[in-house]
Amino acid sequence: MSGAATRPAFVIAVDGPAASGKGTLAAALGRAYALPVLDTGLLYRAVGVLTARAGADLDDAAAARAAAAALTADLLGDPALRTRAAGEAASRVAVHPGVRAALLDYQRAFARQEGGAVLDGRDIGTVICPDAPAKLYVTASPQVRAERRRLQLAARGEVVAIAEVLADIARRDDRDGGRAAAPMGPAPDAVLLDTTDMSIEQATDAARRIVEAARARWEAR
Ligand code: C5P
Repeated sequence: MSGAATRPAFVIAVDGPAASGKGTLAAALGRAYALPVLDTGLLYRAVGVLTARAGADLDDAAAARAAAAALTADLLGDPALRTRAAGEAASRVAVHPGVRAALLDYQRAFARQEGGAVLDGRDIGTVICPDAPAKLYVTASPQVRAERRRLQLAARGEVVAIAEVLADIARRDDRDGGRAAAPMGPAPDAVLLDTTDMSIEQATDAARRIVEAARARWEAR
């Protein structure tokens, strides 16, 4: 690719609330552009799980920060990170500015790798990679997100009533969007993608079109 050495890497930032479809879209974009993908939610899930395993309270900022500092990449494949409890723990430790600071360098280094990367999370376009050339903010109605999350959990053997998943989602939206440190929200230059009425294929096509347009602008810079 001409000019790659003088130009920042092509970073695709995919943000949005829990179960909006951002993880699926990030993975599809990674395959389409042959870019590595980082699910940054896993970092916070790992910090939550490590904090709990250390016997500390998730609201204990110092303990959570120590867990973030001790985090190693091999933990990210642990199936325990995919549970409902880990999602809740993640959003509780994610409010601590010290935890977010401890995870910043790892995420930025991932984004800076040669060729570029796809990162999905809550604050990629706003805080981690504010200069990313392609930014998507993926949403869907709470009901649709709850049903998607219910199916994901059931596929892993965790059977939860839809009303409970809906309550989880509402609680997480409030906490993630209301916290002082890097609250969840779209960057001013992000393109909003509402996947409520879309199949995975339709959402992937729409995401591809958004990224294609961003890539054309980036190539022309
Ligand atoms: O994306 P996922 O649902 O796995 O994220 C779990 C939690 O981690 C979120 O609810 C949020 O509190 C936190 N998180 C965050 N910033 C990110 C990614 C996740 O605060 N970039």
